Amino acid sequence: MRIIMLGPPGAGKGTQAQFLVEKYKIPQISTGDLLRKAISEGSELGKIAKRTIDQGILLPTDIMFKLVKERISQPDCSAGYILDGYPRNIEQAESLKGNVEIDAVINLVVDQGVLVNRLTSRRTCSKCNAVYNLTARPPRVEGKCDACGGDLYQRSDDTVETVEKRLETYRVETEPLIRYYDNLGLLKNIDAGKGMNATLDRICAVLESL
Ligand code: AP5
Ligand code: MG
Repeated sequence: MRIIMLGPPGAGKGTQAQFLVEKYKIPQISTGDLLRKAISEGSELGKIAKRTIDQGILLPTDIMFKLVKERISQPDCSAGYILDGYPRNIEQAESLKGNVEIDAVINLVVDQGVLVNRLTSRRTCSKCNAVYNLTARPPRVEGKCDACGGDLYQRSDDTVETVEKRLETYRVETEPLIRYYDNLGLLKNIDAGKGMNATLDRICAVLESL
């Protein structure tokens, strides 16, 4: 099963991808997580990523394609994967076409009014990238990951100012992918505005009907 998770920042792409990893035993490929790992390692890619992510804009297509292609070629991706945050614009989608087969594009549909709140109250595990929320999904122990005990941190791009820029980048660059994938017959719209479990049930119903 090869899936793309589409949706604005804070729609729940990472949250749902992590649930799907558990259920279908295929890996989540989050380009955001790969870039944050590069930043923490201090690599050349990390230096570019740091500048770009904190401005709320996208990295160049060629860099992202190379990163994703390398990750997809690893053995754990042979039975499928969940692309979370990739592709992010038409150019990236075109670079994927012909190189990578996709079975479905899950488009998480959420009222944009809730996104700033969701993002500014998000906390992420520094070890395993599990996603929490101070109100909607608090950890059992404050500041610690339920799954691995790692420290939770707040992403540097989850400030109100950067979130607003990310939402604008989404509207200009990423939203056109909705029509693009609809025209290819791959788009599955999912109401992601209510509970996380209800959203997961809707996604699973769609995936099981493929
Ligand atoms: P990335 O890390 O992909 O960020 P994003 O797309 O902005 O998406 P988020 O991770 O912020 O949101 P999400 O949809 O995963 O929501 P989550 O599940 O965490 O990318 C970061 C940056 O990297 C980009 O800005 C760009 O610079 C660069 N980049 C990445 N990919 C790139 C690419 N392909 N090309 C170029 N540049 C790229 O949920 C959010 C919060 O809401 C959490 O707290 C969660 O607990 C909560 N929540 C989730 N679902 C619900 C619900 N149903 N009800 C209530 N709360 C909920
Ligand atoms: Mg995410």
